[in-house]
Formats: sequence, C-alpha cells, structure tokens
Amino acid sequence: MTADDVSFVIDTSTPHPARVYDWLLGGKDNYLVDQELGEKLPAEARGNAARNRAFMHRAAAWLARDGVGQFLDVGTGIPTAPNLHQVVQEIAPAARVVYADNDPIVLRHAEALLVSTPEGATDYVQEDVRRPEAILERARTLLDFDRPIALSLIALLHFITDDEDPYGITRTLVDALPSGSCLVLSHGTTDEHPELAESVRTTYREGQVPLRMRGRAEVERFFEGLDLIDPGLVTATHWYKDTPAPKSERSGFYVGVARVP
Ligand SMILES: C[S@@+](CC[C@H](N)C(=O)[O-])C[C@H]1O[C@@H](n2cnc3c(N)ncnc32)[C@H](O)[C@@H]1O
Repeated sequence: MTADDVSFVIDTSTPHPARVYDWLLGGKDNYLVDQELGEKLPAEARGNAARNRAFMHRAAAWLARDGVGQFLDVGTGIPTAPNLHQVVQEIAPAARVVYADNDPIVLRHAEALLVSTPEGATDYVQEDVRRPEAILERARTLLDFDRPIALSLIALLHFITDDEDPYGITRTLVDALPSGSCLVLSHGTTDEHPELAESVRTTYREGQVPLRMRGRAEVERFFEGLDLIDPGLVTATHWYKDTPAPKSERSGFYVGVARVP
C-alpha cells in the first residue's frame, strides 16, 4: 500500500502490524496470518508488547497530571482498554484526544475510541503517518494548536523505513505544535538483545512487514531540537516519574518524552 492509498479493505492474506500487536497483547481482533507470525516470534515479544503499552499508560498519565489537556496519538493500534483517552480523562476529564492509524481494522473498532467523557472529546482519523499534513489538518478540527499538545508516536516509527523519511515526518508533526507541547515516543531497538531483535525483524520480513529497528543514536535523533524530560531516553522499563523503576527487565524499546521549547 502506498501512502496515497489509505485502504479501507481488511486484507487477511498478509499479517498487519496492528493485528500482530493485538495478538501479542492477548487480544482477539486478529486473523490466522497474524497469529502465525506472532507464534514464530520469540516468546519475549509478548512481554515486550505489554511493557511498551505500560509505558504509554505511565507517560500519558504523567502528562495529564502535568497539565497537558490535548493529545494526538498516531499509530493508535486496535483499541485495548485502557486506551490513551481513558487513562488521561480519568485524571483530566476535559482532555481532548485525536487518534490516527492507517489500518482498516483499527477503523472497524474505532467506536471504542470515541466513547469520551462528556466534558472531553475524542476523534479518530483513518490516515497514514506518511501523510502528516493530512493528520494535522483533521486534528485541527478538535485540538487547539495554540495550546500544548502531546504528540504520541508509540511503537510506530520502526514501521517507517529510511527511504520513507521518518525524521522528516516527525519534524512536520512536531513543528506544528506550540511551545510547551511534548513528543512521546517509543521505538523498537536492536541494542538490548541483538539476537532477539534480529529474529523479530526476520519474522516480520517473512510476513511482508518491513521493520526498521533503530539504535540509540538513531532514536535520539527523533528528539532533535526538543528538551528531553527526565529520565531521558531510556528503555521502556526504566521510564518512571513518580515511583522508582522496579527491578530491571529488558523491553526491546527505547522510549522518551520531550518538551517543545
Ligand atoms: C505496534 S502497534 C502500536 C499501537 C499503540 N501505539 C501502542 O503502542 O500500544 C503499531 C500501530 O501503528 C500503525 N501503523 C503502522 N504503520 C502506520 C502508518 N504508516 N501510518 C499510520 N499508522 C501506522 C499500525 O496499524 C498499528 O496500529
């Protein structure tokens, strides 16, 4: 599929990232091709998916407590409670959240993302991150771009290959945000456990899903020009704000939250 062709047809002949991730999280919104790919992945992949999702919950909750009331979540995934809006609206009921994903199965389940608190609001955009301007245009209908927005790109950019310009895409999205906004990012890496990462990459490639894991310096580059918030760029199991990180586990993901100056 090209970025110009945001397909609405569910293709069950090849695995899709959203559905494989749903399988890894123990969800039911996936097909045999997704399960087959998931089963070929090293067992640690399931724990890594859960640890990535847990980072999203902690980071979103911390931002809501810190006073950020608007969220743009690109690469949302199939709804899995608690979704981002449920996490943040529990803390800030008036929070507004715009979700975007390019997978038609996420669209099929999007109604679960649209159940907002009465004081807040949510929206879902069926769009490809490789068309960042289209996402921004739609997000402007719900979010106020004169007030801080948290942009989350969680477990998304490793699906964007170098020739698709992941840094340019991120820059376009971040440049639209006002000062005080934040970028929340998680990204699969080869650094923590190279053999595991290689096996994940090969399995996805065999399933025709290109995966571009990135090393520390490559992930750090997504935060260029932004102020990384403590604890900085760390692996998912080390990103804790209010409590100390529990006993260290590997996670396969670099994560970080940074402020737009
Ligand atoms: C691994 S899931 C992550 C879901 C969620 N962000 C989380 O971390 O729990 C990756 C999501 O990115 C979406 N995705 C992959 N490529 C995309 C693209 N080019 N544009 C928009 N979404 C994309 C997939 O459909 C999938 O829902």
